Amino acid sequence: MNRNLNTPNQLRSEIAQAAQVARNQRWQESAAACQGNLLPRIKQSLIDQNAVLVAHYYVAPELQDLADETGGCVADSLEMARFGFEHPADTVIVAGVRFMGETAKILSPNKRVLVLDRDANCSLDIGCPAKEFGEFCAQYPDRAVVVYANTSAAVKAQADWVVTSSIAVKLIRHLHEKGQKILWAPDRYLGDYVQRTTGADIILWCGACIVHEEFKAVTLRSLMKQHPEAKVLVHPESPAEVIAIADVVGSTSQIIQAATQLDARKFIVATEDGIFHKMKQLAPNKTFLAAPTAGEGATCESCAHCPWMKMNDLANLANVLETGQNEIHIEESIRRRAEVSIRRMIEFGKQVAAVSTASGHA
Ligand code: 13P
Ligand code: SF4
Repeated sequence: MNRNLNTPNQLRSEIAQAAQVARNQRWQESAAACQGNLLPRIKQSLIDQNAVLVAHYYVAPELQDLADETGGCVADSLEMARFGFEHPADTVIVAGVRFMGETAKILSPNKRVLVLDRDANCSLDIGCPAKEFGEFCAQYPDRAVVVYANTSAAVKAQADWVVTSSIAVKLIRHLHEKGQKILWAPDRYLGDYVQRTTGADIILWCGACIVHEEFKAVTLRSLMKQHPEAKVLVHPESPAEVIAIADVVGSTSQIIQAATQLDARKFIVATEDGIFHKMKQLAPNKTFLAAPTAGEGATCESCAHCPWMKMNDLANLANVLETGQNEIHIEESIRRRAEVSIRRMIEFGKQVAAVSTASGHA
């Protein structure tokens, strides 16, 4: 398996800087959010504008609850894309990060799509610039290009397939069984996990999620010793040594499903900490422990906090509803090409779901 090791290293300082800007901005905005009761205003604006709120599990609890209460959804990135597309609202408001807003717009060009903060990005997206990615692809013209949803529209436009973590293994197995060789971008940990699980021939771009990359197997093992009865749930953007000791590896929704369905009472969870809100709602009698993000004495950069997800709050939701700011626009030729690769993923997901239902594994 080859790796493209150069480009993302050059981008490391850009990613670190963007994350720091996001952390600083979050502090200022949460202070603003304390002023006044925004909820009634927001609820009325959602009705007046025939708008629906689509939130990711990592955003603030109050945004997740509001999405649930007002007929929107709280979901993983695959389900967010599907929901925004299928919902009849004129406006889709995405509480998450930029690629999630772009995906909604790509699928629903006639709807108005608003994001709460245009600078809410993702280290995987920043670490895979479209031009460099195009040059990388050009070196491997015989490979099917599969990109993770956490990328820009311009990167998706260069892909044959888009995937999310919830169907990555199934799709790569499918392509491998058809004899296709794969070029995978940008998350090297997820790509490596998919490669080891399916045995496919994969060339990896070398990006990473700055949040999941921080989980450490050594300290996770110590925590497991203190709680031997706990099951370990891990998102596949985590390092291989952490994935290796998981009881369940899956997307955010698959992790939540495992927490509710397994009959264990205690879980150690290696993913962004916003997920605990939904887990505790759905399984109030179970105990959830955060997996450690750093070795003893180390400085924790992320502490399982995505700085960009945390830029979403009630204050900027009220602001975008009232001003119409932060609308997503995508150049039409890019949108059309990106739409093809996203629709393939959605169709593939439907086929997988139909087969599982027919064989009783739903
Ligand atoms: P999911 O598709 O599992 O929700 O993941 C999105 C994400 O950004 C994880 O860090
Ligand atoms: Fe990107 Fe990681 Fe944040 Fe998810 S948690 S949006 S992958 S930086």
